[in-house]
Amino acid sequence: MRTSQATIAQSYDAQAIEYDRRWAQYLRRSTQVTLTALPRQAPGARVLDIGCGTGALLAALLERNAGLALTGVDVSAAMLARAADRLGAQVTLCRAPAEQLPFEDATFDVVASASSLHHWPDPMRGLAEMARVLKPSGVFVLTDWCREIWPMRLMDGYLRLRDPAHHRALTRRELAALVTGAGLSIDSQTLHRIDWLWQLQVLTGRRAKSDADQTRNPGQEDDHA
Ligand SMILES: C[S@@+](CC[C@H](N)C(=O)[O-])C[C@H]1O[C@@H](n2cnc3c(N)ncnc32)[C@H](O)[C@@H]1O
Repeated sequence: MRTSQATIAQSYDAQAIEYDRRWAQYLRRSTQVTLTALPRQAPGARVLDIGCGTGALLAALLERNAGLALTGVDVSAAMLARAADRLGAQVTLCRAPAEQLPFEDATFDVVASASSLHHWPDPMRGLAEMARVLKPSGVFVLTDWCREIWPMRLMDGYLRLRDPAHHRALTRRELAALVTGAGLSIDSQTLHRIDWLWQLQVLTGRRAKSDADQTRNPGQEDDHA
């Protein structure tokens, strides 16, 4: 089944009110593993969360690391509205797809995404956008489902048949190939079994070095990282 931005937005608009309560335990664990993988940043560092949903990761980042310049994007207006209620004016939120981010090249010190990529209609394009908006000195952290244990394989197969907002959960090897193919290099890739059903993978890394990065004066863009 082929996902589309409109179908994903419709699906999450419909579940936004219930989302935090329904997924409380999952959210607590997935946010924790994502946050643990992310190095602390200096005040003023620019952080983007792609597919930020109701803002669980952004809220945890704010609590851990004061003074960050936080931005969240999502395709669901209702999920963003919940995030705005929770985070107030201290975070910039905008409605945009991962595959077409409304930011200049090399804007962010950190780009994060949690439990969103398995929906993306074009994950390679979304990851290439992640690489594009990351500063050469920046880091990414990507958390998503891992399709390597039978409960996850069964669930992925079922959702691919029945849920038009679900695209595909990936194995470690599949996700690593996409990430590197999109112009990112991987520093770490870890597995987290957060309960009997959910297995998550967390990747961290940076933009793969281009010829332009090698010749650019690093001091020009490394003001926060
Ligand atoms: C399972 S929720 C995760 C939300 C949040 N990251 C968290 O950890 O709670 C997936 C979110 O990704 C968003 N999403 C899915 N596909 C997207 C895309 N292509 N671009 C931007 N957001 C997307 C959905 O609207 C939804 O809010």
